[in-house]
Amino acid sequence: MLKIRLIQRILSMSKKTKTAFVCDQCGADYPRWNGQCASCGEWNTIKEIRLAPAALEKHPPSSGYAGNHSEVKRLSDVNLSQAERISSGISEFDRVLGGGIVRGSVVLIGGAPGAGKSTLLLQAIANIAARDISVLYVSGEESLQQIAERANRLKLPADKIFMLAETSVERICDVLNDIAPQMLVIDSIQVMYAPHCESAAGSVSQVRESASYLTQYAKQHNVSIFMVGHVTKDHSLAGPMTLSHIVDTQVMLASTDDARYRVLRADKNRFGSVGELGFFAMDGAGLKEVKNPSAMFLNRAETPSSGSVVTVLWEGTRPLLVEIQALVTDCQYGNPRRLAVGLDQNRLAMLLAVLSRHGGLSTASDEIYANVVGGIRVSETSSDLAIVACIVSSLRNKVVSQEAFFFGELGLNGEIRPVANGHARLNDAAKHGFKKAVIPKANAPKNVIPGLTIYGVTTLMEMLDILFEI
Ligand code: TYD
Ligand code: MG
Repeated sequence: MLKIRLIQRILSMSKKTKTAFVCDQCGADYPRWNGQCASCGEWNTIKEIRLAPAALEKHPPSSGYAGNHSEVKRLSDVNLSQAERISSGISEFDRVLGGGIVRGSVVLIGGAPGAGKSTLLLQAIANIAARDISVLYVSGEESLQQIAERANRLKLPADKIFMLAETSVERICDVLNDIAPQMLVIDSIQVMYAPHCESAAGSVSQVRESASYLTQYAKQHNVSIFMVGHVTKDHSLAGPMTLSHIVDTQVMLASTDDARYRVLRADKNRFGSVGELGFFAMDGAGLKEVKNPSAMFLNRAETPSSGSVVTVLWEGTRPLLVEIQALVTDCQYGNPRRLAVGLDQNRLAMLLAVLSRHGGLSTASDEIYANVVGGIRVSETSSDLAIVACIVSSLRNKVVSQEAFFFGELGLNGEIRPVANGHARLNDAAKHGFKKAVIPKANAPKNVIPGLTIYGVTTLMEMLDILFEI
């Protein structure tokens, strides 16, 4: 008798669905319910949810499931052709994805509403569908009429794109089982809901569950998925941030200072390099690729002014010319302000300290504003030399030659260190008509670059000596 009861209990245990306790506010999960979320500090936000694998029993993996790891293999025996890529037909988009869309991968496209996520995806899948690759566009936000009108206005071929207006992930997977597309667009993941998850639609745990449900489906059936995720201005919805560990690739579409331009950036990429940038211009006919982004960021004023210097950044796999500006003014009262836009505040403070100690120029009583023109964020140290140069230019109120550009890292002892990809940076600047390069001596090329005079410097002092002489 006891034995039978034990067997019954074991059986009922194995049927029990797995649950998790997830915070609606920040997406943190816990083994049991708590009144307060230890991660974000909110009260009463932890909800019990059923986990996706139980629901996925409804959609068993197809026979050719690539992710079946139960068999031990030699690394050399793994079939490499599984990392097949599909081109989106938009080279800037492919570049950010690491050379096209990997079959069975999940890509999250984040951005503020109106950034152009839906437009970009519609243009990409129109190109893909035109090559007879089946795609399904699931819209939970806009009506099918609205999307059809947009496709019509953008003159995209619409006969090969399948559309579905649906917000339930289970129902979407049912449809996927029927029509078996190779690519799926979910616009947007915030409006999707997983029926097995009890929290309110749009909550973080719903978004997370929906995303992991679709991701499992994608992996098991080798479907590539694009998910659209909105980021609100104040980042109040943690959606895309909690999603980043579920997806393979996360790209962000953002506006630049000039409202026409958009920058696509890879924040996470399992199949390519992060930090890669793609540039687009939004006009009446949708998003157009910008083939020469340096020109887009180098709209310099006609009359040269002090406090403006050009540098060559390295963004992902290519150089990018940007202008850096500085304004140094007397501080009338209180503590002088140090404001950096597009630059790291701490880096600026460090450069000012080096300038004071090794360049003999103290700015302790000045207010300093530094800005990267165009809304680009500089994250590498190669802009150090340019930042210092434009601060000195503003401090002295003297113009730096418009034909000059600067790159190089500044060490704490006032030494100028070489940076990676020096030659490619020089070539790009020369191509854009710059004639004078102030760079680390170690980056000076062995062969002459036509039209370019190289000023190789090893210390901050050497740079300051030639700053207004070139
Ligand atoms: P959309 O793709 O709907 O943005 P998202 O999906 O990221 O919310 O793009 C919306 C903006 O783009 C909207 O402000 C209008 C503008 N737009 C154009 O300027 N030209 C166009 O051809 C299209 C389709 C949109
Ligand atoms: Mg949209």
